[in-house]
Amino acid sequence: MLSTRPPALDDDPASLDAIWTALQPDQPTGAPMIRAVMISSIDGTTTVDGRSGGLGTPTDRLVYDAMRARADLVLVGSGTALAERYGPAVVSPVWTDRRTGPAPTVLVLTRSLPDRLIDLCAGTDDRVRIAAAHEVGRQRIEAARARGVRVHVLDPGPTGAAVRALASRLHAREVDFEGGPRLLGTLLSEGAVDDLVLSVAPELIVGGDDSTLTPGHGPGSTRVPMRVVSAFTCPRGGLYTRWAVGEGVR
Ligand SMILES: NC(=O)c1ccc[n+]([C@@H]2O[C@H](COP(=O)([O-])OP(=O)(O)OC[C@H]3O[C@@H](n4cnc5c(N)ncnc54)[C@H](OP(=O)(O)O)[C@@H]3O)[C@@H](O)[C@H]2O)c1
Repeated sequence: MLSTRPPALDDDPASLDAIWTALQPDQPTGAPMIRAVMISSIDGTTTVDGRSGGLGTPTDRLVYDAMRARADLVLVGSGTALAERYGPAVVSPVWTDRRTGPAPTVLVLTRSLPDRLIDLCAGTDDRVRIAAAHEVGRQRIEAARARGVRVHVLDPGPTGAAVRALASRLHAREVDFEGGPRLLGTLLSEGAVDDLVLSVAPELIVGGDDSTLTPGHGPGSTRVPMRVVSAFTCPRGGLYTRWAVGEGVR
């Protein structure tokens, strides 16, 4: 009989194999792939107190680290890099036996190249670089380069195509795009995202101040823990889930 109880994967060797296999792209193309990785609560909230980490589970961390271990480049928007205090990527010890070579370079996308982004990237030994939109002023680029920050200037035109062209010049096959939501929207609307690896955190976030640009857990909202009971998909690609409401509302 068909079970609708999805497998629970953890950090034991069999689970790690299953996670790694699940993350293999279906049809690698010749061009660099842009593979987005995001987490949200069941209701679609993407941050807790301005960061995504508060939504994470240990298994989400395994997935996130596996996508980094697979990637040649990590791509992230300036908003996320600053909010999450990005630094150089490292390959998690869990995945080092599957990756040869150094950790992927981090590329931060920007249109304005503010000073605080230069501060973030300076002193990272070329491991956190800037990918500047074509329109970024020469003075901003020179200011970053004066601090030893490597700046790649993107081609004019759609962002996704420009990122793919840069990835190609850097001989990257897989680009791990880590957000944020605004840049994800741009890349999706351009048809530039090949894959979305979406973690659904086991909670609903209800009520509170929803006036922020990025929906997040803020003052007045309530976190309701949940547990998935069954899940199935359909020929049109939908995902259907049943959740039990947990205890310990925050
Ligand atoms: N739940 C999750 O999985 C997840 C993942 C990532 C982030 N987040 C959260 O999301 C929030 C940040 O996300 P966000 O959506 O506000 O910002 P974001 O997408 O990370 O970054 C937006 C910034 O990217 C740059 N940018 C946008 N379009 C561009 C283009 N076409 N070319 C070059 N640069 C471009 C601009 O930088 P400049 O302003 O420098 O010009 C823009 O302000 C944070 O709170 C973070 O914690 C959640």
